This record gives sequence, structure tokens and C-alpha cells, in this order.
Amino acid sequence: MKIKKHKDSEELSLAVANYIIQLVKDKPDATMVLTSGDTPKRAYQLISEMGVSVDFSESMIIGLDEWVGVGPESEGSCRYIVEENLLKPLNISEENYTFFDSLSSDLATECKRVDKLILDRGGLDFIIVGIGLNGHIGLNEPGYGFDNYCHVTDLAQMTIDVGQKYFDSETSLSKGITVGLKHLLEAKTAMLMASGNKKAKILKNTVNDEPSSKMPSTVFQLHKNGLIWVDKEAGRMI
Ligand code: PGA
Repeated sequence: MKIKKHKDSEELSLAVANYIIQLVKDKPDATMVLTSGDTPKRAYQLISEMGVSVDFSESMIIGLDEWVGVGPESEGSCRYIVEENLLKPLNISEENYTFFDSLSSDLATECKRVDKLILDRGGLDFIIVGIGLNGHIGLNEPGYGFDNYCHVTDLAQMTIDVGQKYFDSETSLSKGITVGLKHLLEAKTAMLMASGNKKAKILKNTVNDEPSSKMPSTVFQLHKNGLIWVDKEAGRMI
């Protein structure tokens, strides 16, 4: 687990943007899981704003998670956030990305589809995640172990409450569909990106507490190439 502190969230975003650009340059057929939420938005925007030519035509982008029952047109879905900030500005073609179909009546099959895609492509080269205030990673909530591939989860109350910030109007949330922590552990590189004061305490626990499913983010202590990239505020206790 390597911790890197950046001056502020803009510098952090720039570093993450450059990391992703370099990853695709070095391995054009890279398979990567990308998170949504507020944290990575600026990094995604910078990839197109920087005007560097980067060719995603052999790569595969997989959305980290979705709220079950929330469709892709909703501004709070993972797909919407990644599409608007990264895929559309870069004109990335549909065959180079996929997201969970959170409206599917057969979520178990949906999980298997994404598991098979990752397996068929020889595993993940990279996964980038944020961190919830309760230590969740993707929608792997406290209590779900490190041995799951893609799965459906019951959301923690804190996630349901905090999750409202992504939506214009109150939205009913109860379950999530998510890439599991076993995929994260098997990825060649896993990056946790966090910014802002409110993430400082959970990051302190993430790097210091005994790894346990009670705090999914502690999985980073077990990763052979786990990167924790933070801004100064989020990293002030680590
Ligand atoms: P955020 O979400 O980037 O909106 O803070 C992080 C998360 O819950 O994983």
C-alpha cells in the first residue's frame, strides 16, 4: 500500500488523469474498472480537456457499481457520471465500455456477465475506487467480505442517506450491484482516490485498523499494488 499526498484536489485530479492516460498508452488493451461519485469527476474531465491523444479503441472500461432500480438516464447513476464526464467528451465507442444493467430482472446473471467479461479479458489491469464515509468501496458495504466477485448488496443506511446528494429529488435506494473486492484484490493495480476533510478519519482507520470486512476499505492493506492517492485535506491524519 503506497500513500501519495497531493497538494489539493485539482492536483490530485490531474495526477489521476495522467495515470489513466499513461496506463492506456502503455497497454492499449487495458481492462479497467472506473468509479463514479463526486471524487473522480474532475480527473475524467481533465483527460479530455488536456487534449492529449489517447486511443481507447482496444481498451475496456467497466463501471464499478450501480444503484439497483436506478436507470442509466438518472444523473445519479454510475453510467451517467462516467458517460457525461469521460466517455462522451472522448467519443469512446460503446464496444469499449460496459455498465451493470441495474434495471435487469435477473441481477445474478448480470453479475455473471461482468465476471465473465473480466475473466475473458485476462483480469483487471486497473481499478479506481472512492471511499464512503463508512469505509465502503463501490457498494461493498461493511459486513461484505473480501471474497466476492460481482454481487448484489444491501445498502447501509449511511449510504442511502449520503447517496441522495447525487440526485435532484429524493430517490428510493435499498440495494446495489457492484464489482466485488475479490476483483479488486486480483487487479494488477488498485487505486483509492479521496479528497476533502470529511474523508480524513475513515482514511486513518483504513490504513491503521486490522483488515476486516467490517471496514471494506482495509482491503487496500492486502493488495500487492494498492495505491492511496489523496489531497492534503483527506490525507491529514495518515
Ligand atoms: P464520493 O463517493 O466520491 O461522492 O465522495 C465515494 C463513495 O461513496 O465511494
